[in-house]
Amino acid sequence: MEAEVFAEVDRFIGETVVEEDEALREAVAAAEAAGLPSIQVSPPQGKLLQLFVRLLGAKKILEFGTLGGYSAILMARALPEDGSLITLEAKPEYAEVARRSIERAGVADRVEIRVGPALETLAELEKEAVGPFDLVFIDADKVNTPHYFAWALDRTRPGGLIIADNVVRKGTLADASDSDEATQAQRRLHETLAEEPRVSATTIQTVGVKGYDGFLIALVEPA
Ligand code: SAH
Ligand code: DHB
Ligand code: MG
Repeated sequence: MEAEVFAEVDRFIGETVVEEDEALREAVAAAEAAGLPSIQVSPPQGKLLQLFVRLLGAKKILEFGTLGGYSAILMARALPEDGSLITLEAKPEYAEVARRSIERAGVADRVEIRVGPALETLAELEKEAVGPFDLVFIDADKVNTPHYFAWALDRTRPGGLIIADNVVRKGTLADASDSDEATQAQRRLHETLAEEPRVSATTIQTVGVKGYDGFLIALVEPA
């Protein structure tokens, strides 16, 4: 299968079941103009995140990795008026681009960006009465995905979801000898979850404009 076909199908999906959204187009354009990498979730993946927000009746969302605010805007738009989303971003210059796009999209009242390495921000969040979350989307530095997952698991309500992006990594997930630390981290996460009674999880492989990857979806079981 060719990458061009994956992209073509994503475009078709974008012309049919996934509606175009002006604010999201603007967010992508602003990120591009500011020189941010184009690694936001694809429109079909973003729509799936929105469907999850709605299915969960989510009111509290935590996101690791803001970039230009694309996925944050998507999820915030699916939240009710009194919902809120905290998104963590290491780079102040990315957070600034995101802040402006979030403002333009009209969801600034529901979105809070916390700037700094997530591991440090988590220490701060621990001192505050944040959570429990209905949905956690992990999409920052991939080597720390297992750590973020463990933190999130203690702070996601039963029946809530934890989703981790970029776990399949062109199929290297299945390669025990792969030397990439980010890949090893996803393998470790999967192995840990095999013995974690608090979640029921699956990983869905994906193709599309972002090539071959996939995300892990974990439902937090009742205590
Ligand atoms: N969720 C975004 C894409 C995120 S890309 C979307 O779909 O629109 C990954 C982001 O994680 C980048 O912006 C990167 O700067 C950020 N990041 C990397 N390491 C981080 C860390 N330690 N803490 C917080 N954010 C980090
Ligand atoms: C990268 C990060 C992502 O979150 C993603 O979905 C794709 C690529 C990256 O850092 O290269
Ligand atoms: Mg990602």
